[in-house]
Amino acid sequence: MIDRIKRLIKPSKAPEDLCSRLIIETVASCNLSCTMCPTTHYGPSHKGLMHERIFQKALSLVRENMQVILTGWGEPLIDSRLEKHIRLCKDAGAIVYIATNATLLRPDRARGLLDSGLDGLSISLDAGLPETYSRIRGGNFHNVIQNMASLACLREKINTKFWIDVSFVTMRLNISEMASFLKLVSDIGVNSATITPRYLIFSEEDFSRHFVPLDEVMNAFQDAQGKVSTGSMELRTYALENFPQGDCLAEAVKTAFISFKGQVSACCNLGHPAPRYLPSTGESMDPFTIFGSIENQDFEHIWSSKKFIKFRKSLSLGIIPRPCKGCLLVSTRDQIPVAIVSK
Ligand SMILES: C[S@@+](CC[C@H](N)C(=O)[O-])C[C@H]1O[C@@H](n2cnc3c(N)ncnc32)[C@H](O)[C@@H]1O
Ligand code: SF4
Ligand code: SF4
Repeated sequence: MIDRIKRLIKPSKAPEDLCSRLIIETVASCNLSCTMCPTTHYGPSHKGLMHERIFQKALSLVRENMQVILTGWGEPLIDSRLEKHIRLCKDAGAIVYIATNATLLRPDRARGLLDSGLDGLSISLDAGLPETYSRIRGGNFHNVIQNMASLACLREKINTKFWIDVSFVTMRLNISEMASFLKLVSDIGVNSATITPRYLIFSEEDFSRHFVPLDEVMNAFQDAQGKVSTGSMELRTYALENFPQGDCLAEAVKTAFISFKGQVSACCNLGHPAPRYLPSTGESMDPFTIFGSIENQDFEHIWSSKKFIKFRKSLSLGIIPRPCKGCLLVSTRDQIPVAIVSK
C-alpha cells in the first residue's frame, strides 16, 4: 500500500525528461543534389542506408503515441524497406511521418505508403516554376507535380485523414515564386503549405548570395496570400516570427535523432558534420554533436547522460547551446544582425 502511495506521489518526469519524438534516419543518401542541402556536401562516410540491425534497435524504443519521423538528411523513398519500417512503427503505436522530394512517389509507391498506415508526409518543392525547381533541386518539376496530384487523388479514395504538406524553403532564387507555388499546390488539393526560411547556412558567400532577410520573406508571404485564394489549404510559416530566446522549433528537448549509423543526437542538424556559418558574428563552426550510439549503448543511458541532459536543460532555460548557434530554428532574429534582417 505504502509503495502504491509512493508511486502515486512520485513526481512525474518533467516534459524535457521524456523522449516523445524519434527521428530515425533510415537513409542518409539522396537521388538529388539540392544546392542548399547539407547532404550534397557530406563525404561518403556520412552517406548510406541504416542497417536493419540498427533499425530494429531504434524500433525497440518506439512507444504508443510517440511521434516517429522516418527521415533525416536523405531521401527515404530510395529505400525499398520504407513501407515495412512504417508498418512496424505503426504496429508499435506510433504516429509516423516522412519528408520526401517525391521524385520516386509514383502511384504504386503512393499506394504502398497509404497502405502501410503512414499518417502523413511533407513534400519539398521549393519552387513555383520548373526552371527554378531544376536550379535548386535538379529534378523534374512536372514529374513531382504529377506524383503529388496522384497521391492527393489516391488519398481521397483510401484515407482522407492522411495529411499532405508541401514545403517551400525560401532563398533568393525562389522568393518571387511564392504566389505561383501557393496557387499550384492549393489547386492540387494538399492540406498545408509551409514556408520556411533557409535555416542552415554554410558560408558567408552562401549567406550573402542565397539568404533572404526574414522581413522580406514575411512580406512576400503576405503579398502572395493577397494574390492567391488558397481555399481550405492551411498556410504555415516556420521560423519566421519572433519566438522566445532558446526555443528550438524542432522541439529538441523531447526529441532524439538516430542517424543511419545509430549515433544519437538532438536533431538532424547536429547529427552529421557540416559547415555552419554564424551570421551574427561572422564565425564558422562545425555543430556535429553526438551523445552516444545505440549500436553499443543502451538508449536510456544515452538519454540520461549528463551531457545530453545539460544540452536539453540549456535549451529549456532559454540558453542557446554552442552547437545550436547559427541554426535559425532557435531564436531566429537574435542570430541575424538587425541591419540585415530589416534591410
Ligand atoms: C533534408 S530534406 C530530407 C527529405 C527529402 N529528401 C526532402 O527533400 O524533402 C528535408 C527538408 O530540408 C530542407 N532543407 C535542405 N537544406 C536546407 C537548408 N540549408 N536550410 C533549411 N532547410 C533545408 C529541404 O528543402 C527539405 O524540405
Ligand atoms: S532531396 Fe532532400 S535530402 Fe536530397 S538533396 Fe534535396 S533536400 Fe537534400
Ligand atoms: S536549435 Fe539546435 S537542436 Fe534545435 S534544430 Fe537547431 S541545431 Fe537542432
